[in-house]
Amino acid sequence: MSDSLARIREVDSSGQLDDVLALPEHLRDALWRVESAGLEPAEATGLIVCGMGGSASGGLLARAALGDSLGLPMLIFRDYELPPWTAPDRAILCSSYSGDTEETLACFEAAEAIGAIRYAMTTGGALAAAARQANVPVVGLPAGLQPRHSIGYGFTVACEVAALVGAAPGLRTEIDTAAAHLEQGAETLAARAAEIADRLAGFTPVIYGCDLTVPVAYRWKTQINENAKQHAFQNQLPELDHNEIVGWTRDGDGAGFAAVFLTDSDQHPRQRERAELTATLIEPAASAVIRVETEGGTRVERMLWAVMLGDLVSLHLAARNGVDPGPVDAIERLKGELERS
Ligand code: F6R
Repeated sequence: MSDSLARIREVDSSGQLDDVLALPEHLRDALWRVESAGLEPAEATGLIVCGMGGSASGGLLARAALGDSLGLPMLIFRDYELPPWTAPDRAILCSSYSGDTEETLACFEAAEAIGAIRYAMTTGGALAAAARQANVPVVGLPAGLQPRHSIGYGFTVACEVAALVGAAPGLRTEIDTAAAHLEQGAETLAARAAEIADRLAGFTPVIYGCDLTVPVAYRWKTQINENAKQHAFQNQLPELDHNEIVGWTRDGDGAGFAAVFLTDSDQHPRQRERAELTATLIEPAASAVIRVETEGGTRVERMLWAVMLGDLVSLHLAARNGVDPGPVDAIERLKGELERS
């Protein structure tokens, strides 16, 4: 591919770029893995996806993609305990790429204690062992990825489980078409990502989403943190117009923050007005203001397009920062310390 991708490869000794570009394959493989796991449909009053970090992001994206088509509550829970009101007829999907994340394991046990319907997705670890022992169906994930780069799996499995428990219609066709859309657009996405990274380089990115793009903005933030090893922040419209906007008051010279607005054709018309007005208002105080409109037909297509764009931006920033995007030593160190304590 392009020269700019060659720059990523110079720092990317662990092959994160290939894993990001493999998102279309991951989506299709995930559909197949759900099918071969033979998950039984269940009657539930809603779905709670439990997981942390990269293993929770797929659930956040699924809930946003399902949007108004959700007929039952769907929550993403990132903690040691289930919400206190969780009833046994809630379905609980425990998602941990390694299978050894203590918060997710605690939720798996908590779900057992209340007798809830459980599902798991993982590559193995303690979660797979506990699930198999309790006869809980497991969607097996392929090993060898950074958890955050299994997002195509997390997203697809969460959508499929939501459909199985009657929370939403199935999105198989949309996911399949989105995979083709990403494949066709990969080259353009990579070039666009390089341009965006050029404008963000040297500044702290602040990513703003609304509706469909709220979890995408969060994904951009976390990918910039983990791949480029730098700070990035995220917020959402309309809420940020009631507080954070005031933070952009000072003269921008040297302020060091660059804003990215992620907009989508499906958003409320007042959201679009807000995004444009907010961007214009903060422009004098920002080191850069970048506007990105999602591209694609369905919500799934547009959302995953924006996810892949952000993933590629984070890799371009890693190259500019001269860091290998793969290792996340701080996370590993912290987990190790907790294990020993
Ligand atoms: C690392 C990453 C992390 C992990 C998180 C939970 O690539 O994205 O956010 O996803 O520490 O670990 P797992 O996914 O193994 O449950």
